Amino acid sequence: MTHGLAVEEVTAPGAAPAGWEGSLRAMTRSFETLAIHAGQDPEPVTGAVVPPIFATSTYQQDAVGAPRQGYEYSRTANPTRAALERCLAALEGGQRGLAFASGLAAEDTLLRTVCGPGDHVVIPDDAYGGTYRLFARVAERWGLRWTAAPLHDLDAAAAALTPDTKLLWVETPTNPLLRIADIAALAALAHRAGARVVVDNTFASPYLQRPLELGADAVVHSTTKYCGGHSDVIGGALVVSDPALGEELAYHQNAMGGVAGPFDAWLTLRGLRTLAVRMERHCDNAERVAEFLAGRPELSEVLYPGLPGHPGHAVAARQMRRFGGMVSFRVRAGEEAAVAICNRARLFLLGESLGGVESLIEHPGRMTHASASGSPLEVPPDLVRLSVGIEAVEDLVADLGQALHSAR
Ligand SMILES: Cc1ncc(COP(=O)(O)O)c(C=O)c1O
Repeated sequence: MTHGLAVEEVTAPGAAPAGWEGSLRAMTRSFETLAIHAGQDPEPVTGAVVPPIFATSTYQQDAVGAPRQGYEYSRTANPTRAALERCLAALEGGQRGLAFASGLAAEDTLLRTVCGPGDHVVIPDDAYGGTYRLFARVAERWGLRWTAAPLHDLDAAAAALTPDTKLLWVETPTNPLLRIADIAALAALAHRAGARVVVDNTFASPYLQRPLELGADAVVHSTTKYCGGHSDVIGGALVVSDPALGEELAYHQNAMGGVAGPFDAWLTLRGLRTLAVRMERHCDNAERVAEFLAGRPELSEVLYPGLPGHPGHAVAARQMRRFGGMVSFRVRAGEEAAVAICNRARLFLLGESLGGVESLIEHPGRMTHASASGSPLEVPPDLVRLSVGIEAVEDLVADLGQALHSAR
C-alpha cells in the first residue's frame, strides 16, 4: 500500500470517460443504451461481455511507482467498482461517480468532504430517518449545525439558509411522505446564498430524475434500492459534475474507506442494466395502486406525486419522467389500524427497504423512521408506506383490498 498519495494518483481509474466509453457517450444520450454499455466495455483478454468480479485486494506493479492503469490497492480503486462508478456517472449525466458500501457511507463521505465543524446544513423536515440520525446523532457531535425545513415550501427553505450554510440537502420525492421539492428553484436559492445542493435521488432513480441537469452539485443514492433493484445488495453512490469536487470526494472515499466491494459493485451494476424497464413497470403498477387506494373509504389520504391532487404534482411532472414506484397512505382509524393492515398483507411483504422487484409494505413510525420519533421529523402514526413491485398489478390490488378490509 502506498501512503501520502496525491489526489491524482489515487483517483485515476474512476476518472473522466475515455476510450470506448468516451466515444459511447458521444454516440448516444439514450439512458437504456448507457445503462447497458457505459463503463462496461468487453473484458480485453477474453471478450467477456459482463465485467468480471475482480476479487483482489492488490495488483502486481510493473515497477516501483508504475501500477498498471493506476490500480494499486482495492480500497483506492478496483476495476469492478470503476465499471459501476462510470455507469452511474453516465446515467446521472455527471462527470464522476463513486460507489460506497451503503447509502449512509456515501452521505457521510459527502458531508465530511464539503463541511467542517461550525458549518450549517439545511435538511428536509421529512428526510429518510437514517439521514436524520446521521445529522442529529453523529455529525452534530462533531460540531455540524443543522436545521430541518419543509423544502417543498421555497420561502421556508430560503428562511432556513444562513451565512454559514454550506449544504442544502434535498430529498425528492421524500421518504416516506412523498413530498416534492423543486430542485431547480432550490439550487438557485442555495447558490445565491453560497451553499451547495445535494439531492438524494434514491426514490426517483436516474431514470426518472436527473438532479445535476437541474442545477444540483451532487447526487447521492442508496443504490440498495432501485439501482440494485433486487433486494440483494447494500450500496451507495455519489455523482457530481464538477471534476474538482469529484477529485476531493475520491480522495475522501479512499481516505475514509467506506467503499463498495467488488461483488456488491457487480450486483449493483447488473441491476442498473435493467433499471429503465423495471422503473417503467414500477410506475405502471404504482399508478394503478394509487388510483385504487384513492377510492377507498378506509383511508384519509393517499400520497403519490402522480395523483393530480398531490400538492407537488406540477413540479414532479416538470422534473421527473414519471412518478415512481412508492405510494404512502394514511388510515382513518389511526395507528393500530395502520399496523393491522401491514400485518394482514400477504403479497406485499412486511419489510423495510424499497425499490426491489417484490412489493413491500411497512409502518414507517415503528420501522424505518423509528429513529425520528420525538423529533421534528417524526412521521404520522397512521402512515403506511408501499414499495410497489413489478408483479401482476391485479394481484397487488387484490392483496391490498383484503388487507384494507375492515380497517375502518
Ligand atoms: C432516501 C434514502 N436515502 C438514503 C438511505 C440510506 O441508504 P442505505 O440503507 O443503503 O445506507 C435510504 C435507506 O433506506 C433511503 O431510503
